[in-house]
Amino acid sequence: MIIHTHKNIPSSEITDPLVFKQRRDIIKAMAAIMLTGSSIRSVWAENSKPIWPKIAKSEFSNQDLTSTPSELVKNYTNYYEFSFNKEDSTKLAQNLQIDPWSVEISGEVEKPGTFHLEDILQQLSLEEYIYRFRCVEAWSMVVPWIGFSLRDLLHIVKPLSSAKFVRFTSVYQPDSMPNQGKNAMLAWPYVEGLRIDEATHPLTILATGMYGDKLPKQNGAPLRLVVPWKYGFKSIKAIVKIELLKRPPISSWNKFAPNEYGFYANVNPDVAHPRWSQNSERLLGSGFFTARRQTELFNGYGEQVASLYNDMDLRHFF
Ligand code: MTE
Repeated sequence: MIIHTHKNIPSSEITDPLVFKQRRDIIKAMAAIMLTGSSIRSVWAENSKPIWPKIAKSEFSNQDLTSTPSELVKNYTNYYEFSFNKEDSTKLAQNLQIDPWSVEISGEVEKPGTFHLEDILQQLSLEEYIYRFRCVEAWSMVVPWIGFSLRDLLHIVKPLSSAKFVRFTSVYQPDSMPNQGKNAMLAWPYVEGLRIDEATHPLTILATGMYGDKLPKQNGAPLRLVVPWKYGFKSIKAIVKIELLKRPPISSWNKFAPNEYGFYANVNPDVAHPRWSQNSERLLGSGFFTARRQTELFNGYGEQVASLYNDMDLRHFF
């Protein structure tokens, strides 16, 4: 074994003092994190303030839209694992355990794995996306989400060319989600799906926050999908599993009522729900009498997404 003495170490191998100091600082900071437990993990801790870096607005944001008052968005939610009443989940969802949280990504991918959310957040940059959100029940809102594009996450696991669809699965926590325990209505856990080109479209995001803060539990914390040109039920909350598939998955709503909730669920004013028109919508927060607005094809995102459906007759794929 050759032991280098001080004299025979070539100068090219001697660490620059500045780099040496930087390395020491990083090691010290990591030690402090390990001792105090105060890493990005604390983002999800109860009552903690998020430590988001300065959030840039995404180029896909609708900067011109006025956001719906946050109190409405946080207190008028659809979260059937907790309740069928829109006001109840604000309180009930607080029992959900979301820290720590990991997401399994598997199926037709080169690098499957289970990823801690904190590690995902360290790799991907968060941006603000101000999007219209249209529920199939004919109400709508405008939400400033904070998140990252799903395609950036999928890029990490390297989808194979055989990956044609994506299935998303929500958490199964019957002890904290009363309707899962009672087997009420849907087959739990909640499942949704997209075609791979929809999943990798730049408008499709995974949200971890909204209104400059972390995502409230009732709105899908710690991680939910947002697909702004589709009806809101596609935007699945509390995601724990993402699978890339060869065949189309069957979503919870499609299984429950196939003639009412299709796989595509693209917002379309010309295709009525079997029980009501989709022609107009009630914009939350716009007052009782002035509340209705004309619904737009693809929720107004046609310029960006219509080409995905060029070969389809939109009247038949609902
Ligand atoms: N995801 C899960 N896991 N459970 C649900 O009940 N409801 C869906 C969707 N994602 C739902 C879900 C429906 S019907 C809508 S309209 C939106 O979430 C509502 O999102 P919000 O409650 O944040 O407004």
